Amino acid sequence: MEKKITASIIGTGSYLPSKVLTNKDLESMVDTSDEWITTRTGIKERRIAEDDEYTSDLGAKAAVRALSSAGKKPSSVDLIIVATITPDMLFPSTACFIQDKIGAKNAACFDINAACSGYIYAVEIAKRLVEAGSHDTILVIASEKLSSITDWTDRNTCVLFGDGAGACVISGENSGKPRVLYTYTGADSSAAELLMMPGGGTRFPASIQTVENKLHFLKMAGKEVFKNAVLCMYKASEKIMKKYNISIDEIKCFLPHQANVRIIDAVARKIGIEREKVYLNVQKFGNMSAATVAVGLDEVFKEWDLKSGDKILVDAFGAGFTFGSLVIEW
Ligand code: ACO
Repeated sequence: MEKKITASIIGTGSYLPSKVLTNKDLESMVDTSDEWITTRTGIKERRIAEDDEYTSDLGAKAAVRALSSAGKKPSSVDLIIVATITPDMLFPSTACFIQDKIGAKNAACFDINAACSGYIYAVEIAKRLVEAGSHDTILVIASEKLSSITDWTDRNTCVLFGDGAGACVISGENSGKPRVLYTYTGADSSAAELLMMPGGGTRFPASIQTVENKLHFLKMAGKEVFKNAVLCMYKASEKIMKKYNISIDEIKCFLPHQANVRIIDAVARKIGIEREKVYLNVQKFGNMSAATVAVGLDEVFKEWDLKSGDKILVDAFGAGFTFGSLVIEW
C-alpha cells in the first residue's frame, strides 16, 4: 500500500535589507511622531531596500538561506512559487528572476498575488502538489519591496510598511521536520476597494495622469481595513481549528500577520490565546505584506523553544480581502 505523504517544511530563511528607517526618521518626513506611531501601531522601525535592490534580490537571498538550511542544492528545486504584490515587473514573474539568480535551472516558476495572505496561499499550493506526488522540492518565497509603492508624503500609510523576504522549502520526504498539517484559504471581495494600488493595470494603464494622480501608490481606508482585518483573521483561525478539531490550548505559538499590534491583540483575545504565545515582529519590521509571516516563521523556527508535536497556528489577512491559516506541527 502506498504511504500517505504529508508535506514538511525542511528549511526556512529570511532576508531583511540593512537600511533601518525609524519612527524618529519619519518625523522629519511627514507630520507624525514616534509616540503616535508606537501607540497606534506598535511599530518602532522598518527596513528599506536600496533603490537598486529589487524584490527578486530580497527573495533570492531568503531562498538561498532556506535551501542551505534544508541542505538542498538549487538544482533540486522543481518549482518556485513567489508571493508578492510588488513584483520586479508585471511580467516576467519575479519567480523567473529568482530562478536565474539562484541557479535553480530545473524549476518551473510562477508568482501569486494574494496580498498579505500570499505566503499562506503559496504554502497551501505547495503542500497539495507535494502530497499529490507531482513535485518533490518546492521553494516558496514571499518577497516585498513595499517602499516602492509607498507614498512618502502620506502619513496615513507611509509609517506602516517595510521591505523584506522570507522563504521555505517544502518537500514530501519523510524527514522528521515540521509538517504542514492543515491549510485554509478564503476571500471576501465585497469591499476590495478599501485597500489597493489602482494604477499600472488595465483599468489605469501608466500615463502622465496616473502619475500626477498618484495612482501608482498603495491606497488604504485605514479604519475600515482595521475592522475587516480583525474579522477575517478571526474567521481564518476559527475555520481551521473547527474543521480539524483543534483546541486553542494545543497551540504553542500563534503567528499572525503583523499589520498593527492592536489588530493582533484583538484577534488573540477573540480566539482566546495567551499573549506569551503570540509571536510579534511588527515593532522591528512593520508590515511587509506577504513576507511578514514568511519572515516570522523563519524566526519562530530558529528562536522559539518548540518541542516535537507542538503546533504553530499561522494566520494572515490582506488586500482583496484575502485571508488564510496554517497549522504546522513541530
Ligand atoms: N501620525 C500622526 N497622525 C496620524 C497619522 C500619523 N502617521 N496617520 C493618521 N493620523 C491622524 C489622522 O489624520 C486622524 O486625524 P484626524 O482625527 O484629525 O482626522 C487621526 O490620526 C486618527 O486617525 P485614524 O485613522 O482614526 O487612526 P487609527 O487609530 O484608525 O489608526 C491605522 C490608523 C494605524 C492606519 C489603523 O487604522 C490601521 O492599522 N489600519 C489597518 C492597517 C492594515 O491592516 N493594513 C493592512 C494592509 S495589508 C496589505 O495587504 C498591504
